[in-house]
Amino acid sequence: MRITIVGAGYVGLVSGACFADFGHHVTCVDKDATKIDALRNGDIPIFEPRLDDLVAKNSKADRLKFTTELKESVADADIVFIAVGTPSRRGDGHADLSYVYDAAGEIADAIEGFTVVATKSTVPVGTGDEVERIIRERNPKADFVVASNPEFLREGAAIEDFKHPDRIVVGIEDERARSPMSELYRPIYLNKGPLVFTSRRTAELIKYASNSFLAMKITFINEMADLSEAVGADVQDVARVIGLDKRIGSKFLNSGPGFGGSCFPKDTTALVKTANDYERPLSLIETTIAVNDRRKRAMARKVIDAVGGNVRGKRIAMLGLTFKPNTDDMRDAPSLAIAQALKDGGATISAYDPEGMEQARAELPFLDFCHDAYAAAENAEALVIVTEWDQFRALDFTRLKQVMAQPILVDLRNIYRKSEIEPYGFKYRCVGRPHEEI
Ligand code: UDX
Repeated sequence: MRITIVGAGYVGLVSGACFADFGHHVTCVDKDATKIDALRNGDIPIFEPRLDDLVAKNSKADRLKFTTELKESVADADIVFIAVGTPSRRGDGHADLSYVYDAAGEIADAIEGFTVVATKSTVPVGTGDEVERIIRERNPKADFVVASNPEFLREGAAIEDFKHPDRIVVGIEDERARSPMSELYRPIYLNKGPLVFTSRRTAELIKYASNSFLAMKITFINEMADLSEAVGADVQDVARVIGLDKRIGSKFLNSGPGFGGSCFPKDTTALVKTANDYERPLSLIETTIAVNDRRKRAMARKVIDAVGGNVRGKRIAMLGLTFKPNTDDMRDAPSLAIAQALKDGGATISAYDPEGMEQARAELPFLDFCHDAYAAAENAEALVIVTEWDQFRALDFTRLKQVMAQPILVDLRNIYRKSEIEPYGFKYRCVGRPHEEI
């Protein structure tokens, strides 16, 4: 099949490379000429494990192309995906759909022959209707249908998620979309994962409902962590055992410094806005957002308490800045609020992140960026694990103790245990496991 993807950002690029790897002919279109030039030269603008190999392999096989020219690639395509960004609109928190609607207008001018236009960007309920209206008004002769095909991939595991999804959802209003969309995903669902067709509005809501539910699940266990600390219970055991109940499930029950990233914060906020527009407020999700926001700064309080109640004039080392490991993404990362709160308390902060320092520099210019964990720890009164990169799971505590001003570890991701840390003479603080603390 011939696929065109408008928007060579995170979702567009991963989807394009994976569709090409299944044997489809894919063209990724983006207005950013610098980005397209880089991609043609094999330079990937984002950090995602294995994506560079996948792009190189499929470009070489001539199945994956990059261009700034939308017209030609849309004219040739069987399916055109809209995968442009939908950032939170400044001021009101609604998803900003201007890029989606601009893309729809340009696609309208270029359509030739029967074409499925599918939205892959996360878009509020009803956006598919608007995309259809824009194309029809702009080009009444166009022969097209609009489908919704939301993406559920996680950063850092995007290729695996794309190729082995739990489910693929396609929302359609016109039966003519069913066969091309089934053919597109045939290589995946033949082996794995159900392909579910729903109405278009249902598919749009499913994406928001999934992300909001997961955000709520994380927030639930984070509140249980706080309660565990107060009553002397162990949140990891609580999570493990409630997760054994299949109705609850074990995933997304790791307590930590709160959720961040490009999806959960933006999508929960946008869903709350939509619900308010329809006068069906979502109190659970509103509370989830508020609890999560508070939590990020509360983590700084944990660090301050660990060093004796005051960080003024003290050096604190932060390990991990990105919102989670295996990405360079700093969007809504808990490290942003934690670093700011520590700075407000008068601390000097050194930091190290394996991939995110370039991005972090723009957001947190007041940090001292270091080339590794040990350099960051030098003269620090406390070492704080903010993001659980694998390389922080086997730190050399003898070496750390030698360079630090005080041996204190604040483990906001619960990747260590008291029994491992105690022999090195470290004071240990974690999340929701009071019996683990020294
Ligand atoms: C998420 C969804 O998982 C994905 O399906 C959707 O398409 C996009 O949003 P992503 O944001 O890449 O993916 O990361 P994810 O692994 O879901 O983590 C999101 C945040 O939740 C991170 O800050 C992570 O640290 C946090 N988290 C996750 C926890 O604190 N505890 C958990 O148990 C799981």
